[in-house]
Amino acid sequence: MDLAYLAKMPQEEFTARRERVFEQMQDNSALLIFTESEKRRNNDCDYLFRPDSYFWYLSGFAEPQSAILLIKQADKTESIIFVRKKDPLMETWNGKRLGIENAPKTLQFHEAFDVEEINAVLAKKLANLTACYYARGLQEWGDNILFSTFDEMNANRQKTPTTLIDWQPMLSEMRLIKSELEIALIQQACHISSMAHIRAMKQTRPNRYELEIEGEMQHEFTRFGARFPAYNFIVAGGENACILHYNENDQVLNDGDLLLIDAGAEFAYYAGDITRTFPINGKFSEPQKELYELTLTMIKEATKLLVPDSSIKAANDKAVQILTEGLVRLGILTGNVDELIEQKAYRQFYMHGLGHWLGLDVHDVGDYGTERDRPLQIGMVLTVEPGIYIPKEADVPEQYKGIGIRIEDNLLITDYGNKNLTSGCPKEIADIEQLMQSAQ
Ligand code: GLY
Ligand code: MN
Ligand code: MN
Repeated sequence: MDLAYLAKMPQEEFTARRERVFEQMQDNSALLIFTESEKRRNNDCDYLFRPDSYFWYLSGFAEPQSAILLIKQADKTESIIFVRKKDPLMETWNGKRLGIENAPKTLQFHEAFDVEEINAVLAKKLANLTACYYARGLQEWGDNILFSTFDEMNANRQKTPTTLIDWQPMLSEMRLIKSELEIALIQQACHISSMAHIRAMKQTRPNRYELEIEGEMQHEFTRFGARFPAYNFIVAGGENACILHYNENDQVLNDGDLLLIDAGAEFAYYAGDITRTFPINGKFSEPQKELYELTLTMIKEATKLLVPDSSIKAANDKAVQILTEGLVRLGILTGNVDELIEQKAYRQFYMHGLGHWLGLDVHDVGDYGTERDRPLQIGMVLTVEPGIYIPKEADVPEQYKGIGIRIEDNLLITDYGNKNLTSGCPKEIADIEQLMQSAQ
């Protein structure tokens, strides 16, 4: 196993992002961002730490209890990072810390302070500034620090910034357009995710358990240097596929059913997000094939429309047209296609959006426009994920009941249209059947 490609983003990329933030900040203002806190799982066991995505985006620093303070005044800018101080005893138990001395040089900040002194430093640095960029409500420990500092400043008759400005719109816009280095990391997350889905297809058999297939995929993630999934695995056999965020993953896989897997690796903090649906015994039945082909046409036609200056809405309108025509053809809906679309009759069988931004978060940040009609731009990365879910109780022809299908790819918007970052993961019926049968 060669994990040499466990890419570390060069620190210059984070520094350049902070420069772009400074350019957008008003004069005489500060911007404050906290990372996530450690989260207790049970008794004295924590979840493994994962930094906040905005904090990581501007620092490249993955230790807990850290914060960034950027200050812009007419004549200068100042970047400050608060970190945990070095502590030999704590480091013996819980792992190395970068420390206050090393932080400025390693992370390319002007200055670093002990996070335990953050209230006092903030009181000094924020006094007499006009505005403070801050996103309230993201981290409770951050809110407590900032607002208790304001209270102390008021008590000491120090002037606090008069306006609080939410930095989320500014930073989300920046995160929405990916740099070349980011695209390389997302491509790797997508590649690892594709490998894991291929392994799942090869390993699936009747009478194995959903959880075993999750394990096979996690093995593949780890093998390629992705320690975590970007979100909880959805490994949904048979009608479990009709529960959109099913994650019990504890049922046996039945001969004759489909298996829907929605799983993506997180690589260097960037997410992949792939869904594939395939037959547990390696061969699609006729009704499964009919619904699968319909979903496949939806994703292919929608993908053609996810190009610069088009929108998620335009692609979804096309997908809905294809879906409604198909459902009428199969006798699942009855009536006039245009009227059914007008009534949104398809919503009972396709109840989620066509896609979402993808990046440091699986549901990445960035404005979508009022009706997901924001014009797409080069450098955006998004998912395309149509689905059809026919619950057992639905009033439809018997052979379609209990079938749930979703197919999800990840696209980079490019000058020539789009690049499918998950094209390495098979989705044609013939390719899936061949892969599965060759493995059995
Ligand atoms: N895996 C969640 C989603 O596809 O949006
Ligand atoms: Mn997904
Ligand atoms: Mn998705």
